[in-house]
Amino acid sequence: MDETENEKQYIYIVQASLESSKCKIGKTNDLDRRLKEYNNITGVSKENAYQYLFTCEVQDMAAVENDIKGKFGRLREIKNKEIYFHNEPLFEDYINFIKGHRLFIKEIFVKTEAPKEILRIVKKTTPTLDDRGMSYVDVMNRARKVQNDEFYTRYEDVEKELSMYAHEIWQGKCVFCNCDDAVDDEKDERRTSAFALYFIRNFDELGLKKLICTHYAGKVDLFKQGSKGYVYTLVITEEGFEDDWEYPTGFDGSFDHPISLKILNEEADIVCTNPPFSRSIEYWKILIESGKKFIIVSNIVNAVTTAFIPYFKDNKVWAGYDEIHWFLNPKRELTRAAGSWFTNIPINDRPKSKNLKIMPLKKIPEKYKKYDNAKMLVVDNNYIPSDYKKPFAVSSTPILSGVLEKGYKIIDEKVYHPDINGKKKFARVLVQKI
Ligand SMILES: C[S@@+](CC[C@H](N)C(=O)[O-])C[C@H]1O[C@@H](n2cnc3c(N)ncnc32)[C@H](O)[C@@H]1O
Repeated sequence: MDETENEKQYIYIVQASLESSKCKIGKTNDLDRRLKEYNNITGVSKENAYQYLFTCEVQDMAAVENDIKGKFGRLREIKNKEIYFHNEPLFEDYINFIKGHRLFIKEIFVKTEAPKEILRIVKKTTPTLDDRGMSYVDVMNRARKVQNDEFYTRYEDVEKELSMYAHEIWQGKCVFCNCDDAVDDEKDERRTSAFALYFIRNFDELGLKKLICTHYAGKVDLFKQGSKGYVYTLVITEEGFEDDWEYPTGFDGSFDHPISLKILNEEADIVCTNPPFSRSIEYWKILIESGKKFIIVSNIVNAVTTAFIPYFKDNKVWAGYDEIHWFLNPKRELTRAAGSWFTNIPINDRPKSKNLKIMPLKKIPEKYKKYDNAKMLVVDNNYIPSDYKKPFAVSSTPILSGVLEKGYKIIDEKVYHPDINGKKKFARVLVQKI
């Protein structure tokens, strides 16, 4: 009895606070009652409260609801037909369609209590290095020693970097996230890796063909996904999105497990993840030898570390757009570490190259140019001599700012430690003008 002629008829879009990749689109005669019903379903309304994203009055709600199904059928979850995938562009499409419908009367604004924000900790003010009594060098040295791989990448960092790449690179491609990029079966954001979440939310928008993510059954279960490795796949078919979790026998989810290697070599087009810092040497070797495209997070100091310098020298990897200085630890507290994005996909008008100060040697302030005990020129603070013909030593900063794209090359595969007046300086790499 929900379509009585005298009763007002409404179409609504509702969402649970912990399930931002989905929304429900439905019809009702009583918006308040319907919302209460939703919140009773969860039983934990404070934790996972439903909230209306959009409500409107219509003339014939059954007809409008049917037309929505017809128009957006592909975006409905197979398992539960009332549930639609949600992200910002999709949401706009839903609203535009409803508002443009011939039976639309007017938008209604229902006041609801704001649900508890997920990952609220991310929003807290980021303390400065000064606040924490640390210098940048401390951070780099700490990052170098870091053995704790149990850091989450924040969603905002993943989104900021991945949205910078040309749209075409994703179209028709299979993305593989292979270092514990768990996907919770309820799509709970706290139990899903930010990489997986980004691709699930933007699957359609990016035009992806397939998403494959693996969960690593390590000692620390960052995403509370249990002790068995699994392979998650998401594809889109005529019917809509289809996803699946497979638990192959003996699979621990390690990036070097034969199953992961098979996916890497036979299915993946682009690999995106934040691999464990402690296994970066093996990880980079496997990834780069696979010849696949990638956008990954690693330690900033890789650009001045012997195990990785050859890749930069041979132009097999370069910095992505940004750096990441904050991650979340297993308690979801902000934790400082010096990360950078690395890729083998072209960077358009590298924003950081503007930081390079390329100029004749004599114009570089004395403070930032020194000769070490071996008479090697050492330049700092992103100064690069434009008229110096011999090799000189630079830190990771100019490498990450794109100096190798500005007519300079790495000339030694090993890290260089300048010795200035008996003091061993931190790691550099030797470069030379081409
Ligand atoms: C820096 S965390 C990043 C987690 C997640 N990819 C993210 O970006 O939030 C690295 C993850 O790799 C996992 N890991 C450790 N060894 C691994 C291995 N051999 N294969 C795959 N993942 C591994 C760790 O358990 C940890 O969850």
